[in-house]
Amino acid sequence: MNMYDIIYKKREGGTLKQEEIDFFIRGMCSGDIPDYQVSALLMAMFLKGMSKEETVLLTDAMKRSGDIMDLSAIKGIKADKHSTGGVGDKTTLIAAPIAAACGIPVAKMSGRGLGFTGGTIDKLESIPGFRTAMDVSEFSEQVNRIGIAIAGQTARIAPADKKLYAIRDVTATVDHFSLIASSVMSKKLASGSDAIVLDVKVGGGAFMKREEDASDLAELMVEIGNTAGKRTAALLTAMDEPLGYAVGNSLEVEEAVAALKGKGPKDLTELCIWLSGYMICFGGKADSPEQGREKAKQALLSGAALEKFRELVTAQGGDPGIIECPSRLPQPGYKAELRASQSGYITEIAAETIGFASQHAGAGRTRKEDSIDPAAGILLRKKTGDFINQGDVLASVFAANKELAEKSAKEAQQAFKLGKTPPEPQNLIKKVIE
Ligand code: URA
Repeated sequence: MNMYDIIYKKREGGTLKQEEIDFFIRGMCSGDIPDYQVSALLMAMFLKGMSKEETVLLTDAMKRSGDIMDLSAIKGIKADKHSTGGVGDKTTLIAAPIAAACGIPVAKMSGRGLGFTGGTIDKLESIPGFRTAMDVSEFSEQVNRIGIAIAGQTARIAPADKKLYAIRDVTATVDHFSLIASSVMSKKLASGSDAIVLDVKVGGGAFMKREEDASDLAELMVEIGNTAGKRTAALLTAMDEPLGYAVGNSLEVEEAVAALKGKGPKDLTELCIWLSGYMICFGGKADSPEQGREKAKQALLSGAALEKFRELVTAQGGDPGIIECPSRLPQPGYKAELRASQSGYITEIAAETIGFASQHAGAGRTRKEDSIDPAAGILLRKKTGDFINQGDVLASVFAANKELAEKSAKEAQQAFKLGKTPPEPQNLIKKVIE
């Protein structure tokens, strides 16, 4: 077998066999297959597509490229959640403590930001002292003790995905549903949870811009999860404007804490109740997702979810004082205000543009070696559908200095579109696929 023949076969629209996919993943991980051949095959896969069977085989080969976490030391049905990536998506910080407060063991491995999308680990690390590096025994012990742990994914979980993702990122091959499905599911299947709730984003601020594509992606991931014996569901959710108002690491932690106190934005709170409702149901603590949602609401109202978040922060070395006193979170060097140049209804706040503007303010990385500014980001002051008068503040932009903040504000300005009439309200949860 050789890589040339595999690339040629896919280029001509052929279907790859298990041994060919295994050969590719093994050779890529060992370094025997050079990046230019990996890139060529990725582009052929992107252009010619992959059958469901090929995607399942690719997922399995990627999963087997590293360690498979053994979480059998954790008692109970462990439910995980995963988002395909959005802007202002801080749902893990809220849905995971809600589920844990309802008795679901949450053993969550999370990632860092990718491109214009944020990552849970970067957000948590903006809490002074918070540690995200844990070994399996400490991780399992913490879940058994307090019901929740959120750690950074180790380099040994699906290493094939790390390598493939880095190449996809620079070869315009990220936004293909088979490649996204295998990337997400290889990590989820290797991370050892029993049930998986997927938040598949759709819209201008998501990798999948069209509902049909997002729906295909969701169905494929649900099928991969169920075939692997994990109960899996996917919620197709809107990502046209940022979720909530805050985009950027410490800003998002502050908004997540507000949501846990019952004072969060409507869209963010609603989505977290849905996600945790499914986690509670799949973890066996509710008979249906609807009943799960009722329990989730209760955990928010009673303060139990907030207390679970406090336990999590404390257990992982973070400063729980940020809950009562958000000014203990990293503070920005400079704030610029973005003002409306005319009056009207906001008809669009393009999430991707806000995501890039926030990244350029310092909240995200352009290269994976870059460090981030935990205090940088964008705080929207208005949402789509709001009426604004000329001169109103649309958003505040936070960065290390005036130059960065003003540059980012100029970029963020492009995200806002105004009209004479309010836009049709959109459903946040578009579809559920089980
Ligand atoms: N998130 C992932 O983990 N992988 C992708 O390919 C896209 C989003």
